[in-house]
Amino acid sequence: MQVSIIGLGQVGGETFKAIELARVPGVTCVGIDIDGFTRKAYREEGYAVTEKAPASDVYIVAVYTTQQVFDVLRALDLARKPLVSLESTLDPQEFPALRAWAKDTSTDLVTCPHRFNPNDPPHHVFNLDRIIGGVTGQALERGTEFYAKYMAHKSLLHPYSFEVAALAKVAENAYRFMEIALAQELKRMSDSAGIDFTELRDAMNTKWNVKVLEARNGVGGKCLPKDMTLLAEFAKNKSLFELFLFLNEMYTAEQKEASVAKP
Ligand SMILES: NC(=O)c1ccc[n+]([C@@H]2O[C@H](COP(=O)([O-])OP(=O)(O)OC[C@H]3O[C@@H](n4cnc5c(N)ncnc54)[C@H](O)[C@@H]3O)[C@@H](O)[C@H]2O)c1
Repeated sequence: MQVSIIGLGQVGGETFKAIELARVPGVTCVGIDIDGFTRKAYREEGYAVTEKAPASDVYIVAVYTTQQVFDVLRALDLARKPLVSLESTLDPQEFPALRAWAKDTSTDLVTCPHRFNPNDPPHHVFNLDRIIGGVTGQALERGTEFYAKYMAHKSLLHPYSFEVAALAKVAENAYRFMEIALAQELKRMSDSAGIDFTELRDAMNTKWNVKVLEARNGVGGKCLPKDMTLLAEFAKNKSLFELFLFLNEMYTAEQKEASVAKP
């Protein structure tokens, strides 16, 4: 079975290495990236990498944007009737177009989004709860069968429809964004009232169903703000999501100003 991992960034690179490390009998794996420096780095570590994917039985796509996902899909060699798994986080507005691509090309398309936690290497790729969604029952069955070869335990793989699995990824990151932004707002409020936020948070968290997060320097990084924006653009009622994005911008700017002002 020929497996191609396309997009060797933080997510695709870890997946590529984990699949190579697993050495499942009968599986040959190659990594693909359009970036020459990335290919060189992997080659120097002894991995098989190319610029263009060979005809494959399984393609795993882990490029950054949904536009890049479409670029990759259009260039795939589908001669082997492959399973295509999108591990990239997908723009919900593009779900119908992705489904249409699968239908038009008669391809078994699944999404198995990542929940990569950079601070927890033992649970980076296959040893954590993952969701998987297929555009058809057949696609889901093929996808589940493939991932089951690698998951630490089959029960870690949770099957849904394509749209539910893909939207869950965006919504869970947006949820996290809002949890952090809410803590930040509570901190702003208590700071302006001369009340210690750490104490306030401790007090609130003594309640059995409350878990206020820490407020640090603002929600940043590659994924949470991007996915929050994707959800805001998808939602008919955008006001709540846009408000949280705005509040986070304000809080982040204030934190930056405060750190510059500090001697
Ligand atoms: N980084 C995380 O912690 C994380 C966690 C969960 C989900 N995700 C999602 O996973 C996806 C990938 O994230 P990432 O952080 O690995 O991105 P990244 O930018 O680190 O890596 C993407 C890679 O894809 C390559 N690429 C782009 N277009 C290509 C093409 N046409 N053909 C081949 N290679 C191409 C780029 O050169 C790059 O190396 C995103 O959708 C992201 O939202 C990321």
